[in-house]
Amino acid sequence: MSYVKSIESSHGRNLPLDQPCTALPGELLTVRYDLDRVKRDFSPRAIERGPANLWRYAPLLPVDDVDSAVSLNEGYTPLLPVARLARALGLKNVAVKDEGRNPSGTFKDRGASVAVSRYVELGVKTVAHNSSGNAGGSWSLYAARAGITCVNLLPTDVQPSSLQHCRAAAQPAFLVENWHDAGRMVAEACTRNGWLNICTLKEPYRLEGKKTMGLEIAEQLGWKMPAAIFYPMGGGLGAIAIFKAFEELLRLGWIEGTLPRLFITQYEGCAPVVKAFDEGADACTPWGKIDIPPGGLKSPNPPGGRAVLALMRKHGGAAIAVSTREALAAVDELTQLEGIFACPESATTVAGLRKAIAKNLIRPDEQIIIVNTGSGLKSIPSLAPASFPIITSSTAIHA
Ligand SMILES: Cc1ncc(COP(=O)(O)O)c(C=O)c1O
Repeated sequence: MSYVKSIESSHGRNLPLDQPCTALPGELLTVRYDLDRVKRDFSPRAIERGPANLWRYAPLLPVDDVDSAVSLNEGYTPLLPVARLARALGLKNVAVKDEGRNPSGTFKDRGASVAVSRYVELGVKTVAHNSSGNAGGSWSLYAARAGITCVNLLPTDVQPSSLQHCRAAAQPAFLVENWHDAGRMVAEACTRNGWLNICTLKEPYRLEGKKTMGLEIAEQLGWKMPAAIFYPMGGGLGAIAIFKAFEELLRLGWIEGTLPRLFITQYEGCAPVVKAFDEGADACTPWGKIDIPPGGLKSPNPPGGRAVLALMRKHGGAAIAVSTREALAAVDELTQLEGIFACPESATTVAGLRKAIAKNLIRPDEQIIIVNTGSGLKSIPSLAPASFPIITSSTAIHA
């Protein structure tokens, strides 16, 4: 059995643990653990002896039978020091949490593995969501592995890599013309068909999987918190999850100190959180026309907007907008300086870090973590064309 004590509802609802639940509009569902018991039964040393995937954190995950978890060996991704990038930015301690190593190429696998594992235990047969692409690809793989169905509503410009995940896994996908309607369409389809709605923050378990990014960052820093996190924000689940991880570790007494400052980055062409942050608002107003490359961060009305704004106000940090050109240049910069081939969504963090430095928001010696949420391999058509000369056996080759 898991260490889950309750699912807390911000609306004060009493929620059963043995059935899937769906959040009401504006409601936050949070998994709470019996942390006293976790503390009695586990320690950081015991965690360190666990498997080299996210299931090393089983006592802080909502799954009863971890041996039957639906896993593709996701998580426990490397935290890579990036000394050359740091030097170029005038900093000393920067590291990249490289989520591109996950099975489908993005951090979405964490939420999919943990939530699919729990929903299989609860007998769920079909789940549905809207995804800008990466979650759709990821959930298709995990649904296939579990023998369940994931219905994917995707934007018409979705990356081919994600579409291919859905196709090869024989999971249903639909391309939605008006992306602003996609969440409502999922909710209606779920009600009509009896499917489980797994959209961002509509259910509590995806967040638990993504939380393992924060747990691992703390562990990989020697059970310490960084000074600042740079995270590319779409719906907001990842940022909220990382901070839940730090809060649980603090309550367990496994780490000490203050929580990091949170810097979120968005594309200028869809930046509702940046706008709200700059205006001093505590919630986002829905973004109008979306003008960003295919892939993540296509969240005109982020379900986690209010919670992420609250985290930045409480712990410090900022929301920073980055142009598509700056993001694409940062993909190349990170690859050229460090050999880390990130997707453009993630590279917004590198461009955002440079802007934060220019605004004197970063001290040169503090520990900065950049979350590279996905591999550049997921986004090939968005990148600059790679054209090289064709040669013959008689060409003299110079580098
Ligand atoms: C590669 C990538 N990075 C970041 C995000 C944003 O994730 P979150 O919903 O956790 O804010 C997404 C999805 O939108 C994504 O696909």
